[in-house]
Amino acid sequence: MSLGVFFGLLNLKKNLFHSCLSVLFVSGAYSLRNNTRITYKMPSSGLSPMDPNSFSRPDLAVVTNIFMALDINFTRRVISGNTDLTVQKVDQKVEEVILDIKDLNIEAIYETQSNIKLDYKISETGPFGSKLTVALPDKNLENYIISVRYETSPNASGLQWLNPEHTAGKKFPFVFSQFQAIHARSVIPCQDTPSVKTKYTAVISVPKDLTVVMSAINKHKKPLLERTMYAFEQNIPVQSYLIALAAGELESREIGPRSKVWAEKQIVDAAAFEFSDTERQLKTAEDICGPYVWGIYDLLVLPPSFPFGGMENPCLTFVTPTLLAGDRSLANVVAHEIAHSWTGNLVTNANFEHFWLNEGFTMFIERKVLGRLQGVKYEDFHAYEGYLELQETVNRMGEKDPLTKLVLNLEGVHPDDSFSLIPYEKGYIFLRYLQSLVGITAFESFLKTYFETYKYKSIKTSDFQEYFKNHFKSNTAITKIDWDTWLYGTGMPPIIPDYDQTLRNTCQDYIKQFISWNGQDSFPISSQDIAALIPDQKIHFLRLILKEEPQSLEKLRGLETAFDLANVKNSEMKFLWFRICIKGRWEEKIEGILSWLNGVGRMKYTRPLYRDLYNWEASKTTAINNFEKYRSYMMHVSEYTIAKDLHLLK
Ligand code: BES
Ligand code: ZN
Repeated sequence: MSLGVFFGLLNLKKNLFHSCLSVLFVSGAYSLRNNTRITYKMPSSGLSPMDPNSFSRPDLAVVTNIFMALDINFTRRVISGNTDLTVQKVDQKVEEVILDIKDLNIEAIYETQSNIKLDYKISETGPFGSKLTVALPDKNLENYIISVRYETSPNASGLQWLNPEHTAGKKFPFVFSQFQAIHARSVIPCQDTPSVKTKYTAVISVPKDLTVVMSAINKHKKPLLERTMYAFEQNIPVQSYLIALAAGELESREIGPRSKVWAEKQIVDAAAFEFSDTERQLKTAEDICGPYVWGIYDLLVLPPSFPFGGMENPCLTFVTPTLLAGDRSLANVVAHEIAHSWTGNLVTNANFEHFWLNEGFTMFIERKVLGRLQGVKYEDFHAYEGYLELQETVNRMGEKDPLTKLVLNLEGVHPDDSFSLIPYEKGYIFLRYLQSLVGITAFESFLKTYFETYKYKSIKTSDFQEYFKNHFKSNTAITKIDWDTWLYGTGMPPIIPDYDQTLRNTCQDYIKQFISWNGQDSFPISSQDIAALIPDQKIHFLRLILKEEPQSLEKLRGLETAFDLANVKNSEMKFLWFRICIKGRWEEKIEGILSWLNGVGRMKYTRPLYRDLYNWEASKTTAINNFEKYRSYMMHVSEYTIAKDLHLLK
């Protein structure tokens, strides 16, 4: 269908839809066709045997295309309209297609060609949402197009709605999505498993002063009465969690031949400065991974409540404003999201038990990009930082925690509960180990063929393992790999590679001086030496202090002055500094820490700080009260995980 036709159709459907809105939603009121039923092999939970976090059964009938015609309603905080799914039977005997939904109000489901209503059933409602079983039309077609007419709930877990006062401009509301891992189902009825990839098109309408952006190419923008309609097209098949949208008062600046940065106008120039290295990072990643297939690479800087550092939505990476350090020192997050253009977005984990295939590989490419742009010593410096963070994570979770395995068992486990640094850093170390066995050149050329072979596919760890073994079958070095321990062992990795220590050494010297300092004599590191440290080294220095025993308040005061920590803009440094203050039991800092927390949604910062505050009697109650006061402004995933961290949920 051409996009011109979309607009026409949308108007039609809109009218139909609006006239039906007053009808009570009677979800699941229809019964399924009664003819012969096939019994599917189902685990007792009713979830898919291929993906423990999805009800869908793409092995029986698979969605091959998605078209959305949706209106964003800020007053009611809902998105409503139609999502049309093209469905193909895989098993000719099946009569149904199974989809995932979560808190969607389904009004009706139609077959588009005939406009006949289809029967459907909603069942198994629980933490993974609900199973939506739709009876396919009783005729033999190659493709069935079913149209779901529905609206989202105001608490859709994949959306964050902001009132104007929570935006930089204060005039207009804002909404953004975050679908990874399994929140797409709260906005789009779909087969919400990364094992299914579809092209998608969308027509989205918003109040006329707002701009809509999506993880796709924008095709049109047209006024329609008091609203504006935007049409998008993503021509590369993507998994559901990569569908993304945001709407607000946005501007853009060009930052490269295929890149723009989008943000509210108050920060768009700062963002253009911060991310000016994007094209160089893209080119370097292409050099390592092969051609960039997504056409454009834009960035969207979200309001502060965005819960992640970055999200690799295709054509439009979403990033947190905490990256705006003013000196480009946190742009490695962009290198990370760029790397996902291959690892994750082209070669995709088939379900979230194999999440390390996305994130471990992405860390590996991210650091290689940094290594090429800044030198191997930077690559290794970051790798070592990652190793320290991994140690902290394993210590906190416990050596024996099954979630410290590289390959997880997520039966009955929500991916939001399993999320940690393990797949990132343990995955990274595993790949460094493999590379050390076969050599850098051989490993890099292996990576290229691995991407080439598995692009546009979703795979499991065993696919990678077989491919690697086969590729290096004549290399005896690989026979000593203890795959079982690496993939299924808990705790720290069995082998830690050697990393270049150049950038670390200076910090090591300084830390010794700081630790043996008595807090009364003059600060042990000269201001010239401090000024000579790059931001990454300052971050490292603070991380090393945090690892040490608590420091006295005198020493902390000295440190604050020497490093000007009261005025530091770099969010990573601020975060580590706050943790050091909590560890040193500096009570006067609690208030400032909480007020910073209330303006930041990035879970990498909020979760450890809330946990630290919880674990200190002096701040425990204040932290809980503060959370209760601000939780309604948090995105669902933040609210949920912090509530758990604070033991407010079981
Ligand atoms: N894809 C992730 C973010 C994510 C993971 C969202 C799991 C939802 C579920 C993204 O690429 C990421 O890893 N972001 C990191 C960046 C960092 C490792 C450089 C982040 O948010 O901190
Ligand atoms: Zn990532």
